[in-house]
Amino acid sequence: MSRIAVLTSGGDSPGMNSAVTSIARTAAYYGLSLIGIKRGYNGLLGLKDGAENDIYEMNLDTVLDLADLPGTYLRTARCAQFMDPKVREEAARNLKQLDVIGLVVIGGDGSFHGAQQLCKLGIPCIGIPGTIDNDLPYTEMTLGYDTAVNCDVEAVRAIRATSRSHDRPAVVEVMGRNCGDIALSTAEATGSEIVLVPEMPWSVEEVAERLTKLVAAGNTRATIVVAEGAYASMKPFDVYEYLRPFGKEVYHGQHMNANLLASTLKHMTHAEVRATVIGYTQRGCQPTARDCTFAFEAGNMAVVLLKSGIGNQVIGTRNNRTFHTSIDTALCETRNFKESLYNLINSL
Ligand code: F6P
Repeated sequence: MSRIAVLTSGGDSPGMNSAVTSIARTAAYYGLSLIGIKRGYNGLLGLKDGAENDIYEMNLDTVLDLADLPGTYLRTARCAQFMDPKVREEAARNLKQLDVIGLVVIGGDGSFHGAQQLCKLGIPCIGIPGTIDNDLPYTEMTLGYDTAVNCDVEAVRAIRATSRSHDRPAVVEVMGRNCGDIALSTAEATGSEIVLVPEMPWSVEEVAERLTKLVAAGNTRATIVVAEGAYASMKPFDVYEYLRPFGKEVYHGQHMNANLLASTLKHMTHAEVRATVIGYTQRGCQPTARDCTFAFEAGNMAVVLLKSGIGNQVIGTRNNRTFHTSIDTALCETRNFKESLYNLINSL
């Protein structure tokens, strides 16, 4: 019986289990057996529990029970050793010994670079973009992004309700690494008045000025949605010099964060600004229907491609259609940040 292998790699993302379920169902349909590899590329190298435990044949019945669950049953991890060409050669050798017709990699940018290298070593690989960050430019949406945004929207709505009750503006930090898409969509969907992203430079003074105007106009639920990567695009501002006269203990050179931003804005605007960091709930949420439908189509497409002898591809979605393209082309694409939407949110 021909076999294919699957692994999940990088940060987990809601919908990974749904994708594995779709892969398992399609594999069973075509009479292929499915090998699960635990903890990303680490499992291929037996780095955690040894190859005997990290690589195993997946049972369709067990897989079907997982479909709607958040997290990834296969576990996930980042694998720094995979940067080493010798380690990748070992992984390719192990895959060849498993006699698989190909490998499906569900993960983000780093995981796709690993898959690209494995393709060069003769292993047909298919990538499914599993990351909440939405930072893969070739696809309009990555798996897990929609769930993360919905999680943030629910949280921001709740924060805005209590902000209004107490006349307290809010700073809400969301994930996304170097990509501001989660912050942008969350701010757009919740009617938040300020959004800060890594793609655009911003200054504490400008944010304070806009917040002062909003509060003066009676908008005491004003919300600043800040992407975790946005502190890197902040124009120089010495938080220490600013907060010291207020008796605040801030270490010199300390990086800006949600709490520091809220304290600084509180002193600059005299509004009772509070901070919330949403954190890992964004990754552990129940996947939305949108993510599950993409997972279903992507998982199916991955198996059909491998069964047809086609590798070196990644799957994405464009104009509401699931498509595939070469991994090399996909990794060369550059992002097109929605600057006009950013400006609109920050000015209305
Ligand atoms: O890439 C997904 C992501 O959740 C990012 O948004 C975040 O910066 C990072 O992973 C957090 O990684 P870790 O799980 O290692 O804390």
